[in-house]
Amino acid sequence: MSLPDKGRSTEELLAEITRLKRDDLPVRGGKVTAYVYDTGRPEVHEAAARAYFEMLEVNTLDPTAFPSVVEMEKQVVGAVAELLGGGCGIFTSGGTESIMLAVKAARDSAKTEGRPRMAVPVTAHPAFHKAAHYLGLVLDAVPVDPVTFRASPAAVEAAISEDTVLVVASAPSYPQGVIDPISEIAAIAAARGVPCHVDACVGGWLLPWLREAGASVPPFDLSVPGVTSLSCDLHKFGYSPKGASVVLFADPALRRRAYFASASWPGYTVINATVQSSKSAGPLGGAWATFQALGREGYLELGRTTLAAARTLREGIAKIPGLRVLGDPESALIAFGSDEVDVFVLSDEARKRGWFLQPQLSYAGIPANIHITVTGVTLRGVEAMLEVIAEAAEAARGRGPARLPEGLVELIAELDLDTLDDETFGELAASVGVDLGGSGQPEMAVVNAVLDALPADRREAVLIRFLSVIYS
Ligand SMILES: Cc1ncc(COP(=O)(O)O)c(C=O)c1O
Repeated sequence: MSLPDKGRSTEELLAEITRLKRDDLPVRGGKVTAYVYDTGRPEVHEAAARAYFEMLEVNTLDPTAFPSVVEMEKQVVGAVAELLGGGCGIFTSGGTESIMLAVKAARDSAKTEGRPRMAVPVTAHPAFHKAAHYLGLVLDAVPVDPVTFRASPAAVEAAISEDTVLVVASAPSYPQGVIDPISEIAAIAAARGVPCHVDACVGGWLLPWLREAGASVPPFDLSVPGVTSLSCDLHKFGYSPKGASVVLFADPALRRRAYFASASWPGYTVINATVQSSKSAGPLGGAWATFQALGREGYLELGRTTLAAARTLREGIAKIPGLRVLGDPESALIAFGSDEVDVFVLSDEARKRGWFLQPQLSYAGIPANIHITVTGVTLRGVEAMLEVIAEAAEAARGRGPARLPEGLVELIAELDLDTLDDETFGELAASVGVDLGGSGQPEMAVVNAVLDALPADRREAVLIRFLSVIYS
């Protein structure tokens, strides 16, 4: 696109946006079982959108210039703290930023001789790898139990060294939706004098409602002795528009370590609670309005329907020939695998039928599988979802496993992806059926099978190359 010579009308722009979005996955309706969170109540999302728009141009950079930001943030963070064991917090743009700030606070509070390290279960979100990468920490990956997929407290303990500044546990971890043994891990961390972060990005605003709706949910929040910080995304089960998360700290002194101030230049003084400096207060307005529009009753009702849908889905999937649910998920995230059908082909077959079921690659001994995030709207379509999964599984059985072009995995494993030109990368993509310049949805089973056959560092190199090519 080049900049138009003359300005265009709003109608024209909106029509163009509609055209640009034509191949997007639908954000409402429950047929996309990852990325998006639908209450099934359009009026709630409408209230959030209007409040977002109302706060759009407000810059959170200077809280003295826009006191509305302070008031709204105190209300939103206060509500999260009230539900999750107290403490004080920061409103951030998402789980990754909440985690970055928790890691920064831990790093800056500690005095280590060597490079600071953190002990992180292999099922924890890559945001911890990103934080380690950006903030100069070493990440010690901790194995999980191969049957339950929960972090092993003994393995966490073994990973703690003199230089460990943070121990991590998830409530729940995303891949299999299981809750790590938070109390045990936090007690171990406390006994060793190390802070413990609970990643409740998914579960923070979900598990309390599931518990109230009848699920058995172990203690996981700041009320657990030894837990020093916690991340809770509002743009997940808070059902807020994207750009909304909260990081809580048990101690205000720890929160101060997450902040950044600079007076070392001749311009305005910079005081930032978050990574970003200038940013829109829109997401804060959206989160505030979603809380207000749903209220306690609204969230509890969503917890009830989510729990009912998750249970129906688990039981239903277990009855489909060849499929098995991985672990014993206590939340609203369910993963299933198969020894009989190729789950990547199954995912493509579901996509042909209008449903997006998220494929997950094998890692650390955990087999490739399909991930489903159950939300408030899922219950209405849960039987249809089960039918599609059963049909897709049968179709995948009929098709057999994805066939990889001979020698391709070996070729990619050897290639120097940094120096490869875009054209050759495009040809490689085409050999697995992906037209990098094209639109629409290619079949992904072969791509996923190729990635699955590569070690993690090669997968990462391919993905980075892919990103740079699609944006070129
Ligand atoms: C458990 C967990 N933690 C952190 C994150 C990162 O959140 P975000 O994508 O908002 O940065 C996710 C995202 O799915 C997650 O599932």
